[in-house]
Amino acid sequence: MAKNFIAEIVANEAVAEKIFKLTVDAPELAESARAGQFVQVKISDNFTLRRPFGIASTAGGRVKIFYRVVGHGTEILSQRQAGDCLNILGALGNGFTSCGEKILLVGGGMGLAPLLCAAEQFSADVLIGGRNRGEVVFWQKEFLPHAEEIFITTDDGSFGRRGFVTDFLPEILSAKNYSAVLTCGPEIMMRGVARLAHEKNLPCEVSFEKRMACGLGACLSCSIDTVNGRRKVCKDGPVFDAKEVFDYERDNQTN
Ligand SMILES: Cc1cc2nc3c(=O)[nH]c(=O)nc-3n(C[C@H](O)[C@H](O)[C@H](O)COP(=O)(O)OP(=O)(O)OC[C@H]3O[C@@H](n4cnc5c(N)ncnc54)[C@H](O)[C@@H]3O)c2cc1C
Ligand code: FES
Repeated sequence: MAKNFIAEIVANEAVAEKIFKLTVDAPELAESARAGQFVQVKISDNFTLRRPFGIASTAGGRVKIFYRVVGHGTEILSQRQAGDCLNILGALGNGFTSCGEKILLVGGGMGLAPLLCAAEQFSADVLIGGRNRGEVVFWQKEFLPHAEEIFITTDDGSFGRRGFVTDFLPEILSAKNYSAVLTCGPEIMMRGVARLAHEKNLPCEVSFEKRMACGLGACLSCSIDTVNGRRKVCKDGPVFDAKEVFDYERDNQTN
């Protein structure tokens, strides 16, 4: 059940341009959180709405999140220092459910954050995608102690293979026997990943991001259309079975 925590900041450091890793001391939250769940952080008393972030690690009684500075809230968050306290609501949402023999994690950009927690908790390989070297090198370092094998692509070819994760994915799926694919990142990427997993008859879970207000299922601001009707990303998700949110038959007709 979600609870409110006052957590002390252990570190809040830049890991790449405009990307920060925040570590807070929160043993009770760390103990109860599952991979794929998220937290709502109160930035300061001047912000009415909390900001949602995927839980990236729960090891050692500490919760880690990775965030990109995109607006006023994340800018203020980046100025908070070790020793400051943060008001955090969590753990929220449902989390990933596949944890079979061998999982493949496929992530792009900040979507890799919840997948890092999955790598910590399940036996997994990871396919990391980013725009350029700066966007993937720190993820490689973070996944190194947890993932069994790491594959990397960059759009500009400055690190790993040149191209998108979906260019490389068929090769990886053919080379190994995975029991499921978990993906998080831009929607267009997740749609492509889910389709390739579907073609291999592999279960696929996708983690969605929508602008949120309450984060608790009360305000409907995060609703999305699924094959099972309207669903709330904060409460029914953020993790969904890919078949529930992507309509492959309709995609085939429009392609
Ligand atoms: C379940 C969930 C998990 C998330 N996990 C992470 C994470 O691990 N790391 C991370 O960096 N970000 C994550 N986000 C996105 C993050 O919440 C937003 O980037 C953040 O709230 C922006 O706050 P801000 O005040 O700096 O920006 P604002 O001033 O509110 O907005 C600045 C810009 O960011 C865009 N933006 C704001 N919120 C979102 C959103 N939810 N999705 C997409 N674009 C948004 C706005 O459209 C605008 O263009 C997650 C969002 C959700 C819903
Ligand atoms: S954010 Fe309020 S219902 Fe999801």
